[in-house]
Amino acid sequence: MSVVIDSGLRAQFPAADKLLYLDSAHQTPLSRPVRAALDSFYDQALFTAGPKTNWLRRVEEVRVQLASFLGVGAQEIAFTKNTSEGLNIAAHGVSWEPDDNVLLLEGEHPNNAYAWLSQRQHGLQVRLVPQDKKWADADTFAPYIDERTRAIAVSHVMFHSGQRNDIAAIAGLARRHNVAVIVDAMQSVGVLEVDARALGVSALASGCHKGLLVPQGLGFLHTPCDVVEFPPTYVAAAGVANARADLVAGPDPVELRAGARRFEIGNFNLPAIHALGAALDLLEHVTTAQVEEHVLSLGDQFLTRLDGLGIALVGPAERERRSHIYVLELTDPGWPEYFAAENVRLSPVRDGIRVSFGLYNTADDVERFSDILQRGLARHTRHAA
Ligand SMILES: Cc1ncc(COP(=O)(O)O)c(C=O)c1O
Repeated sequence: MSVVIDSGLRAQFPAADKLLYLDSAHQTPLSRPVRAALDSFYDQALFTAGPKTNWLRRVEEVRVQLASFLGVGAQEIAFTKNTSEGLNIAAHGVSWEPDDNVLLLEGEHPNNAYAWLSQRQHGLQVRLVPQDKKWADADTFAPYIDERTRAIAVSHVMFHSGQRNDIAAIAGLARRHNVAVIVDAMQSVGVLEVDARALGVSALASGCHKGLLVPQGLGFLHTPCDVVEFPPTYVAAAGVANARADLVAGPDPVELRAGARRFEIGNFNLPAIHALGAALDLLEHVTTAQVEEHVLSLGDQFLTRLDGLGIALVGPAERERRSHIYVLELTDPGWPEYFAAENVRLSPVRDGIRVSFGLYNTADDVERFSDILQRGLARHTRHAA
């Protein structure tokens, strides 16, 4: 059994014992240390009303912690509300002329796609790139890139198949063509090793409610300022370098803050950022390398059981191409109700049933679920009639 689970980690996620929780790609259940950080924040609010200066100091500490977790500098991180906000900041910051184009994979997450599709009304061409295999790499995009291409926007791990796209290779292609590459890392951060600098992308956005283990409502955007600078679409005092201490917005030219903080607007989600500090403590202790190995090992075990049951996978089976997400080709409409009745939490997605592992799942969870699947096959067909 992996070190991750030996460390008693499972007990930190009580929901994983109350139900068979196989839905980390939707959200992760709250853990005890993250709950404690939230409680501590709310106690400070209740009994000492902050002070906010202390909370803001903590924001900067967590920014440094997150940056180091991602292998980048703190000045390259902006806190956002969620993935969509980060992706939109980047998508609306890329400059283009009518009839320029951006490349997106067919079937991309809508929160990534709409940031671009909504700009077609002003003349942007959005090219939806088909996949010739079960994952995307430089060869997938190369035939679609031309001198009018301004950006490639792509998920690291795709939510509906679990495929792990080869971002480093895609970013290499983009660099050769002087094209921005914007990555949705919502499904990979905290689960797979994401070395944001080594990937060489122009921007990487994620929320924190899956692999980063905090409740919904917090995200981040990483932009290495040396690769590309996106002008912010929205500006508030938080992003302005010469905002006055007396809070009078004068007629002086607006100087934006250096780095990614220029993208931040208004107050922060303070409780969630405090919670993120505790989540990162936990993840640093476990290490992402171990989480990745753990979920892939559960995947190895699961694929063997699926083979035995004759259930096919929507995404790739190769270890280096897959992730913590396994989508089963089961489209009979009776399956979701059956799993709910068996106290299993998972997500039906467009091509089947999505099972996703987290650091709290065990080999026993995989066996139990595979047995439930086996029983289900006696009652349900694999595919919708
Ligand atoms: C790939 C991907 N991007 C984005 C999101 C969510 O976007 P947001 O954080 O803006 O809610 C999800 C799922 O929740 C996702 O799977």
